[in-house]
Amino acid sequence: MNETIDLLLTRRSGRARDMVGPGPTKQQLGTILKAGMRVPDHGKLAPWRFVVFEGNAREEFGEVISKAFQAANPEAGEESLAFEAKRFTRAETVVVVISEIRNTKKVPEWEQVLSAGAVCQNMLLAAHAQGLYGQWISEWLSYDKTVHKALSMDDQDRIAGVLYFGQMEQPQAERDRPDFDAKVSRWAAR
Ligand SMILES: Cc1cc2nc3c(=O)[nH]c(=O)nc-3n(C[C@H](O)[C@H](O)[C@H](O)COP(=O)(O)O)c2cc1C
Repeated sequence: MNETIDLLLTRRSGRARDMVGPGPTKQQLGTILKAGMRVPDHGKLAPWRFVVFEGNAREEFGEVISKAFQAANPEAGEESLAFEAKRFTRAETVVVVISEIRNTKKVPEWEQVLSAGAVCQNMLLAAHAQGLYGQWISEWLSYDKTVHKALSMDDQDRIAGVLYFGQMEQPQAERDRPDFDAKVSRWAAR
């Protein structure tokens, strides 16, 4: 089968919590980010940006995450706070994709958000094509205002995805997929 089609039909997410190293090289990450930027984009607004976390930055940002968790859950125990502080260390490389809404009447907000979703998917595919695993997860922190502030997001911006990249010790098995015929209908001419 054509290599690209094969890639599209076989991509699987790896679980961030089970990821191991090595993560993407500088070059591989560059390719992942470039693929992310090459998405359909109504009005050429580029309504998204990327924040990359590698090395110590993952733990440094972990402090922000942990404090935000504590503020939202004052009853949280030491164990949960310690987990939150290490959340980004589950993978070698973490990229937060931010959907930045441009104020223009020409392109509806919904279309700008969809473009950011396409960014995330392109990045997963570029990782897969380079023999890496990726996982697109949101979890609570994507919706947390303290985290948004730390990422210098405007009020209308949203986190489209937190993407984790690394390797898996075992290839991921296939999962159930939606029934093809149940999802596809044909508009029949009368
Ligand atoms: C916007 C978005 C947010 C997601 N957030 C989570 C999440 O917080 N936790 C999770 O386990 N999976 C989340 N997923 C699902 C995984 O990324 C993944 O698609 C799922 O585990 C199925 O695996 P597959 O990609 O191999 O089909 C999210 C997917 C999308 C598109």
